[in-house]
Amino acid sequence: MGNKIQMIELSKEHNAIRGEIETAINKVIDSSAFIHGEEVELFERNLERYLGVKHVIGCANGTDALQIALMALDLKPGNQVLVPAFTYVATAEVIALLKLIPVMYDVNPRTFNTDGVVSLEKVEELINDNTKAIVPVHLFGQCSDMNAVLAVANRYNLKVVEDCAQALGAKYKVGEEEMMAGTIGNIGCTSFFPTKNLGAMGDGGALFTNDDALAQRIRMIASHGQEKKYHHKVIGVNSRLDTIQAAVLNVKLKYLDGYLAKRRQAAALYTTLFTKADPQNKYLYTPKEVEFSTHTYHQYTLIIKDNKRDALRQHLAEKGIASMIYYPLPLSDQEAFQNIALRREDFSKSAADSLHNSEYLAAHVLSLPMNPTITAESIELIVNEVINFLKEA
Ligand SMILES: Cc1ncc(COP(=O)(O)O)c(C=O)c1O
Repeated sequence: MGNKIQMIELSKEHNAIRGEIETAINKVIDSSAFIHGEEVELFERNLERYLGVKHVIGCANGTDALQIALMALDLKPGNQVLVPAFTYVATAEVIALLKLIPVMYDVNPRTFNTDGVVSLEKVEELINDNTKAIVPVHLFGQCSDMNAVLAVANRYNLKVVEDCAQALGAKYKVGEEEMMAGTIGNIGCTSFFPTKNLGAMGDGGALFTNDDALAQRIRMIASHGQEKKYHHKVIGVNSRLDTIQAAVLNVKLKYLDGYLAKRRQAAALYTTLFTKADPQNKYLYTPKEVEFSTHTYHQYTLIIKDNKRDALRQHLAEKGIASMIYYPLPLSDQEAFQNIALRREDFSKSAADSLHNSEYLAAHVLSLPMNPTITAESIELIVNEVINFLKEA
C-alpha cells in the first residue's frame, strides 16, 4: 500500500477497454444466463483458435484445471507424479489432494524451469513402476524444455500435464514447428486469475488438449462426472467458467498479443539497463531467455547475489517501489508437504543436494513491477534504485 510503483496496474489496463467490457457484461446481465451462457462456448472456441488446439474446456480456476487434469488421467492413489520443487503451491497441492505422491525435482538455476540437464537427467533416478505423470511448469512466462520432458515421458510412459498458468501466449519450438505453451503435453492447464497474462475479473481457468477422448472425460469430470444431465458416470467436481468471466475474457483475448508485446518491451528495457549497469553480473542476474521459447514475462524476476535480496526489497519499499518474492520457500520445505512429498534423498542417500537450485532461488529471487502499462520512466527509476543500493550495500 502507498507504493508509487505497483507490481501491476489493472485499472489502467481496464480503463482503456472499459466500454467494451461493460457492454459485454451488460449483455450477460440482460440474458441472465450466468452459468453456461453462450459467451462460455464462444470463449472456448476463440481460445482454441488462438492456441491452435482442438479442445479448450473452461473451469473455475487454474488449481481446479490441474486437479481435473490429473483426475482425467485415471491415476491411482499412491501413484507418483513428478513436479518441480520451485513453483506455486497449486501445482503440487492437487497431486497430494488426490492421494497421489508428489516427487519433487530441481529446476535450472537461471531459467527457473524444468530443463533437460539439471532437472531431467537427475529425474530419471526418481522414476519407478509407480511413476505415472510429470507436471512441468512454465514459470514466470517462459516454457520449460518440453523436448526434454517429452523424451523422458516417452521413455517411461508418463503422462504430461503442462502448468501454463503463467505462460499463456508463449510460443514453443518443437523441431521446425511452433506450438503454443500448454498444447504440447497430454493436457495443458491455465489460470485466468486477474493478474495473469490473460486475466478475468474474478476467478477462471481452462484445460487444453488435442485428445478427443480426454476432452470428453475432462468435460464430464468438471461437470459432476455426468455425461448426460443427472446421469453420473464417474465421481467429478463442479468447476465452471462463469458467463461474466467468459464475456470479459472474450474482450481481453483480442488484446493478449498486444499486452504480451508490451511486457516484452518493458523486460527488454529492464535488461538493457541492468546489463549496462552491471555487465559482469557482479550484483545480479537478469532473466535468461531460452532459444526454444518466447518469454511472455508474466514476471520479471532477478536473481540477487550475495544475500542482499531482503535488504534490497526493504530499500525499494522505502522508495515506494513494490517488489515480490515468488517464492520464498521451495515446496519441499513447506510444512504441508512434509511426510507427503518425496525427493531424491528418499531414493538415494547420496543425493543431499538434490533441490539445491530451488533452495538457492527461493533465497535470491526478486520480482519487479511488470505489466503492460508500466512506463519507461518507472523502469529507469527502479533500475537506478536497485543498482545504487546494491553498489552501496
Ligand atoms: C504456476 C501456477 N499454477 C497454478 C496456479 C493456480 O491458479 P488459480 O489461482 O487460478 O487457481 C497459479 C496461479 O495462481 C500459478 O501461478
